Amino acid sequence: MLFSTFLGACIVPSVLGASWIAPGAVWYDTDGKKIDAHGGGVVKRGDTFYWVGQAASNQTPQMYSSTDLINWKNLGQQASSVTGMWRPKIAKPNGSFWLFGQQDRYVLSLKSSTFTGGYGQSAKVHIPPNDYSYSDTGMFYDDSTQTWYLLTSADHNIVQINRINSDGTLGDRVSQLAAGAYEAPGIVKANGVYFLIVSGKTGWRANPNKVFWSDSISGSWKGGSDIAPQAENTYGSQNTFELTVAGSQKTTYIYMGDAWDSKGGADSNYVWVPMNVDSSAHTISLDYHSMWKVDVNTGVVSYPSTAKRYEAEHTNLVGSAVVRDCRDCVSKRSVHKVTDTSELTFHNVTGTGSLQWLSFHYKVNNPEAGEAYIIVNDGPAMNISSLNSRAGYHKSVPVQLTMNAGDSNTITFGSMGSDEFEVEVDGIELFEDDEDL
Ligand SMILES: *[C@@H]1O[C@H](CO)[C@@H](O)[C@H](O)[C@H]1NC(C)=O
Ligand SMILES: *[C@@H]1O[C@H](CO)[C@@H](O)[C@H](O)[C@H]1NC(C)=O
Ligand SMILES: *[C@@H]1O[C@H](CO)[C@@H](O)[C@H](O)[C@H]1NC(C)=O
Repeated sequence: MLFSTFLGACIVPSVLGASWIAPGAVWYDTDGKKIDAHGGGVVKRGDTFYWVGQAASNQTPQMYSSTDLINWKNLGQQASSVTGMWRPKIAKPNGSFWLFGQQDRYVLSLKSSTFTGGYGQSAKVHIPPNDYSYSDTGMFYDDSTQTWYLLTSADHNIVQINRINSDGTLGDRVSQLAAGAYEAPGIVKANGVYFLIVSGKTGWRANPNKVFWSDSISGSWKGGSDIAPQAENTYGSQNTFELTVAGSQKTTYIYMGDAWDSKGGADSNYVWVPMNVDSSAHTISLDYHSMWKVDVNTGVVSYPSTAKRYEAEHTNLVGSAVVRDCRDCVSKRSVHKVTDTSELTFHNVTGTGSLQWLSFHYKVNNPEAGEAYIIVNDGPAMNISSLNSRAGYHKSVPVQLTMNAGDSNTITFGSMGSDEFEVEVDGIELFEDDEDL
């Protein structure tokens, strides 16, 4: 770090209009506030998706709505007197609307006569038939039988599936998975096959999540294969919910995970990724892209095109940083040896004057040993990890920033960390979907 002041403050977003899903990036709602709905799930009513998760500060259920799965409007806390309710999931087993979640290791169910707001406690029970206490909550609606199921990680390392009765009470156990220490369950159904995704139990640290499968919700559950390469630790996330977007051209299955911070707090982000579901091989693999979106009408997934690229070897270098050949870089050259005594500065970067996506392309020698940071114009230094929790773990790290309108922005890139920490910088990209580029 070359400068002595490191404020770590956030750039306050101005005008909105996010156009991509970027796993791990800080996502802003339509008021410009960081989205706060952890351990949640998404349901669709009419043309609108509703996302309910726990607010980080007090674990009260908070709801957002969107028609494109990208721009989310905050509909507020749904039961402001209820706190300590983890992983809330919405369900509608009968005329009323329900939220199920864990509170004090009980299943807390909240009920409202309206979809949005007014949820109050209905019941607080342990899990039938064995009176187990539990931790994580998942929810699955089987449209072939119009039945809602509560998924729980219960005592004795049992992931249990209970029917939710039409009156909202917690019904029979229909099956269970007793294959190891698993939690964070979610189910997706494809071509008649039920896939149960679970994570290992490693606290807030990510682990390789697994998928089990069955021809019936009643089990038995078989398999236990990885949904991503083991070393990726599920791209730094833990499962919370699976969403199916059945479009006119394609059905897209979406993995929704939480990229938890070190304490499950407000710095946690979201990792949403399309899934390749193979119902004959009984496998699921996450189709990771650093930026993507799904057309909610057609179901088709697309990726952004690069509008402008700024190569690291064309920047002003300070300190030990050196330009070298790089076989897998776009320009075949990159800047190596960016350490805490060196910086590089990109000039003439085009800004829109409002929030826009910028992707930083760089590699680190050890993500645990330090952080890459950026300084935009004369602003404070910000660790890239405060803008995207994939920083250091993937070669392309998109973040949303507001720069000045026009071609006069400067971005300084540097690193901080232990003596051996080194960064190799390839370049910066801006994307087509941002107007005025
Ligand atoms: C940025 O990262 C460095 C190196 O890991 C760390 O010492 C510093 O506290 C971080 N700054 C903030 C604001 O998180
Ligand atoms: C819905 O719940 C009410 C009250 O618990 C119950 O009387 C009714 O039978 C339920 N309706 C259906 C369709 O299950
Ligand atoms: C930035 O753009 C200005 C105006 O086009 C140009 O004069 C200047 O040389 C550019 N600076 C760099 C570092 O490319």
